[in-house]
Amino acid sequence: MRFLLDPLLTPEQVDQLHQRLTEPTAPWQAGAETAGWHARQVKHNRQLDRLSPLHQALVEELRGEVLAHPLLQAAALPQALHGVLFSRCGPEEGYGRHVDNAFMAGGRADLSFTLFLSDPSSYSGGELVLESSTGEEAIRGAAGQVVVYPSTMLHRVEPVRSGERLVAVGWIQSRVRDSHQRELLFELDTVRRSLFQREGKSEEFDLLCRCYSNLLRLWGD
Ligand code: NI
Repeated sequence: MRFLLDPLLTPEQVDQLHQRLTEPTAPWQAGAETAGWHARQVKHNRQLDRLSPLHQALVEELRGEVLAHPLLQAAALPQALHGVLFSRCGPEEGYGRHVDNAFMAGGRADLSFTLFLSDPSSYSGGELVLESSTGEEAIRGAAGQVVVYPSTMLHRVEPVRSGERLVAVGWIQSRVRDSHQRELLFELDTVRRSLFQREGKSEEFDLLCRCYSNLLRLWGD
């Protein structure tokens, strides 16, 4: 899986979240403090104070939404969601090329996610750029969309040119650490679901389920 981009929040949920995050009393601070020693040099953003009651309340709400998302469940096989933070970038702010830390206080980072909270027409620049062996992918998601990508990828956030880019980011520790194995399981799961829809609980479906469960047992940790 290179990445997955899908709607997560309704426009109403995004509006409400956006409003609470941009209230004058919301405690924003420099983001460089929470970056690893090498990423610190290229991180230019502001983050909501992780110890504030507002942050803790919003993270709990978000956690439920992310973990309940069916496509994300199937593709990411989440064991834990951790390190969630809210980030805003105004003009000239962004986050240069880096790779996310493998381990964080909350667990291992197998997958990274960004939940877009600003309407893309309200700011320019600020693309999330993912690097892979086949090239680069620049993503500016709609408000409420989430992008999930392997934490093994080099990536950056281009400087915002105008307006403000507000996002939530976080990490997922998957039950399956290897992305190729995760992808195979996702494909098997997709096939068994479509088979079930077409012909119900057939003999082939049972065999596929056995295959899926036993591979998960073999590869999961
Ligand atoms: Ni990153």
